[in-house]
Amino acid sequence: MAKISMYRKVAQAFYARFGSPPQLIVRSPGRVNLLGGHTDYNDGLVMPVAVDRAVWLAVSPVDAPEAMLHAVDMGGAESTFAVDRIPAAVGGWSDYPMAVLWAFLERGLQPVGINALFSSTVPVGAGMSSSAALELAFAYAWDHLSGFGLTRETLAQLCQQAENEYVGVNCGIMDQMIAACGKAGHAMLLDTRTLEYHHFPVPPQAAIVVADSQVRRTLAHSEYNARRVECEQAVRLLREYLPDIASLRDVRPQDLEQYGAYLPEKILQRARHVVTENVRVVRMAQALHAGNLELAGQLIGAGHRSLRDDYEVSIPELDTLVAAAQEVPGCYGARLTGAGFGGCIVALVHKDAVVSLAAHLKEVYQAHFDLTPDVYVTQPADGVSVAAQAVS
Ligand code: GLA
Repeated sequence: MAKISMYRKVAQAFYARFGSPPQLIVRSPGRVNLLGGHTDYNDGLVMPVAVDRAVWLAVSPVDAPEAMLHAVDMGGAESTFAVDRIPAAVGGWSDYPMAVLWAFLERGLQPVGINALFSSTVPVGAGMSSSAALELAFAYAWDHLSGFGLTRETLAQLCQQAENEYVGVNCGIMDQMIAACGKAGHAMLLDTRTLEYHHFPVPPQAAIVVADSQVRRTLAHSEYNARRVECEQAVRLLREYLPDIASLRDVRPQDLEQYGAYLPEKILQRARHVVTENVRVVRMAQALHAGNLELAGQLIGAGHRSLRDDYEVSIPELDTLVAAAQEVPGCYGARLTGAGFGGCIVALVHKDAVVSLAAHLKEVYQAHFDLTPDVYVTQPADGVSVAAQAVS
């Protein structure tokens, strides 16, 4: 849905629900990850892009210390809780704003009471970070309305803490950082250890296409945590030979060549993915800088093979979509995006090849799985921002 209509939709729905126009409308984007899969919890490098699918949050401060939330997409479900004490999680969408509130209170910051209403175009459970988008929308709005003046990086850290410790999902920092700090027209090279980042323009002849396998990520949670544990195990074992390493980020490909044989096979595979992926992300940034889309695409393809064979987070549906994408002339490369086990693939493709790519993906996927993937072109978008503010 176009920006203007999402803006109108939440503004009008807010007026209908609360009887006055919202003071603020915030747009907070989902993301796709061009490269750097499962490196963020290893202090590594990632290259995500904020997308034009977003959470739209209409919000006004109120005098009472209370949050009254209305979720347009959940059949108008509502949630009300006090903002001056830690709310009890209920196991649904409202846990995300509650988690953000908890993280502010943890820092000794008291957010204002709000009336809020939101709607989202980020598909849920598709690996496009609908939850990080929701968290950043509330964190940004509360920061703004309460006058805290936190930086975008701090808001991202606050949201990651909210998700890790309140919601209980052990994610890295990538999704929150790109929702906070994305830049239109650009991919972001992020060092998850230092939170330093640089934006690299996506060349104008390239399009980013997302195809949703329609498979929801049932295994993602348990397997994600299992991969984290395996990476920690790799570090513990490698420390015997490399005493100075703090994480897999500190391990170089030549270190693995030298000491990899001392690791159990599965642990070596996991480490090899992370170590080679960090190298690929650096090369990807160089490729984008040089406008070399062929090389960028090769790195994306190599990233997928590594996630599939060494990290083992792919599934046949995603492999089929990636292989089909790569058959299309004009497709530079494709890979799964997000945690894996379902969700989406992302393809970097010449603009002129978008239509044939979409048609081919649909045909192949239909033939193999009797399912139609949702395929769309996405524009690299800005991070969370105010879409409009009433002049008072
Ligand atoms: C999920 C997590 C991220 C990251 C990716 C895998 O999206 O939320 O922190 O680990 O998986 O790259």
